Amino acid sequence: MVGFLNIIKRELDSIKEKGLYRSLKNISSPTGTVVTINGKRYLNFCSNNYHGLANHPALVNHLKESGQKWGIGAGASRLICGNMEIHQELEQRIAEFKGAPAGLILSSGYMTNLGLLGTLGTEDTTIFSDRLNHASIIDGCRLSKAKIRVYNHMDMDHLDGLLKKDHSPRKIIITEGVFSMDGDIPPLDTLYEIKNRYGALLIVDDAHATGVLGRSGRGSAEYWNMEGKIDVQMGTFSKAFGTYGGFICSSPLIKEYFINRCRPLIFNTAIPPVIADLTIKAMDIFESNTMFISRLRHNIALFKQLMKERGFKIDSCTPIIPIIIGDSDKTVSISNRLMERGIFISAIRPPTVPEGTSRLRITLSSAHTSHQIEQLADTLIQTIKEHRIVHKQELLYGIP
Ligand SMILES: Cc1ncc(COP(=O)(O)O)c(C=O)c1O
Repeated sequence: MVGFLNIIKRELDSIKEKGLYRSLKNISSPTGTVVTINGKRYLNFCSNNYHGLANHPALVNHLKESGQKWGIGAGASRLICGNMEIHQELEQRIAEFKGAPAGLILSSGYMTNLGLLGTLGTEDTTIFSDRLNHASIIDGCRLSKAKIRVYNHMDMDHLDGLLKKDHSPRKIIITEGVFSMDGDIPPLDTLYEIKNRYGALLIVDDAHATGVLGRSGRGSAEYWNMEGKIDVQMGTFSKAFGTYGGFICSSPLIKEYFINRCRPLIFNTAIPPVIADLTIKAMDIFESNTMFISRLRHNIALFKQLMKERGFKIDSCTPIIPIIIGDSDKTVSISNRLMERGIFISAIRPPTVPEGTSRLRITLSSAHTSHQIEQLADTLIQTIKEHRIVHKQELLYGIP
């Protein structure tokens, strides 16, 4: 036992030496645009709560009624006795929202990716996965029995070349609709052509696109005018809708197959019904007011403009805006300095992102005020300049 604990201790020491040590921050307020940590208030620019729904007053008020009607927990997996009408209702709702014939909900986005790839990734399958796909996709690939081929980030020629060489009877291409750490958008129109050329199944992880991309925020399919063309859209309610739980939108056949084969659906307790009910309410609120989307776009444009005026070009056109610093220690140091100045932006380091690309991952929300965004731009520029960044990637951004 002592030997085992020593090994773990040494590993932790090595994590610290590399500047990759992680610890939890205790937040003592709801996750709004302002949060309280150790009694101090911070402007929050690192949450995926893209529309402030995680603490929306109408949802908080609805909580008691929801609990009285459905209770809190589901009590069992959906196939035993945990499947309630409210789960079915949410499935229908998300399918309609995503323009798909069928919807299926699972306990989280992470579990959904494990389930998706673990179920579809049989021994005679090859999964083609973008190099920067989220950890839940990577873990789903690991759990599957499929051959895994990783293509360079958004490199369609590389993907095409890998598919050409592959002779598996079943092929899956999986990409994020908006990449979680870079905020960039892959060319889904080209991915669609490629998937048709090779008879592959196209899966899009729309965790960060749902409620964000497209005219009315329905995600990648709406953004690319590709409704009905993506075989499987997965996502999560934990980001733009502010609640919890994962979903798969697909054909009824795929849904039926998952109900019979998908282990994270079969062996995992169903989403708490109170959460399913609140998610429907969150979708009601989101869909009834186009201001959520227009305000988010406004905030992204405002931040980019403010940064441009201060000599800093931002390429992202989504609410995920990475400021690549490179060195992990320096990233942590900038993040700490920002905290001292009342701005909360986590340092994102390997293994979440590739070696040498540690970053500040800024996320904007439609709930941020223009004044808060101005404060962000001013404080960020001041802090970055003080750190005299010299890594070549930062020079790309024009910071001296
Ligand atoms: C691209 C992507 N997929 C899946 C997930 C997992 O979703 P959840 O947090 O609901 O488990 C995340 C969350 O970080 C994500 O960024």
